[in-house]
Amino acid sequence: MKIITSITDMQQTALSLKRAGKRIAFVPTMGFLHEGHASLLREGRKRGDCLLLSIFVNPIQFGPGEDLDRYPRNLEGDCAIARECGVDFVFTPTAAEMYSTGFQTSIRVKDLARPLCGSSRPGHFDGVATVVAKLFNICQPDVALFGKKDFQQLAIIRRMTTDLSLPVEIVGMPIVREADGLAMSSRNAYLSPEQRQSALCLSRAIHLVRERHAAGERSAARLLEAARGLILAEPAATIDYLELRDADTLETVPTASDTTLMALAVKIGTTRLIDNTVLGDET
Ligand code: PAF
Repeated sequence: MKIITSITDMQQTALSLKRAGKRIAFVPTMGFLHEGHASLLREGRKRGDCLLLSIFVNPIQFGPGEDLDRYPRNLEGDCAIARECGVDFVFTPTAAEMYSTGFQTSIRVKDLARPLCGSSRPGHFDGVATVVAKLFNICQPDVALFGKKDFQQLAIIRRMTTDLSLPVEIVGMPIVREADGLAMSSRNAYLSPEQRQSALCLSRAIHLVRERHAAGERSAARLLEAARGLILAEPAATIDYLELRDADTLETVPTASDTTLMALAVKIGTTRLIDNTVLGDET
């Protein structure tokens, strides 16, 4: 496994792999890898001749007062997981390498970036779209894999890939959960043991809504009310958003169906966690 920090080296390597007829699978991450990332890497290993992982905590997708400075990092641990998953190249540039002096071009995402995380994190998805487009140009993937935990991010990346005619197949992979239901996230590392327990209210709210939907409840208002009650019973939790929306357009729906997305962001103490489900999907 080779570690590359320079954009030119990574791009030259990727271009020569392509010229040699290799299919490149790519998993972009911000590091502090967990089982969710490992599932993307294992799938990537199957889908490409060559597997590339990027680790880059992207400053332009963090707003003022967010957790850029304390975002967890562990390059050594990440490399051990990467090796186990059969990664061939790890691209891990510095912020100065990615955003050289004078950087001023970015991608602006419209409607899909407005609701949910976009409304509480203004500019976040422009930062995500910009870095992903840049990483695609550097790493030249044929296929790129993203987790469905960041459902809106995945929808935006799919849209951007179509809108900008990027020759990359986008694959969305299922959320990986701990045994007790908590969706895996690098930010779970911020939680104390008590907060870790409180954080279960997100997956429990999802479970409750899925159950009620499966039992025939279709009123979005009633489903949301039940979820809200469950979360607010948890003193450490404050709801950032809790919504039912169409899984394709991300528009709000008065009536739930199998293609309805339930998405929520909840703060446990100061840690903001997100989770989601599509009501008709298996998990
Ligand atoms: O999902 C993430 O880890 C990041 O948003 C991504 C896609 C690597 C862009 O920085």
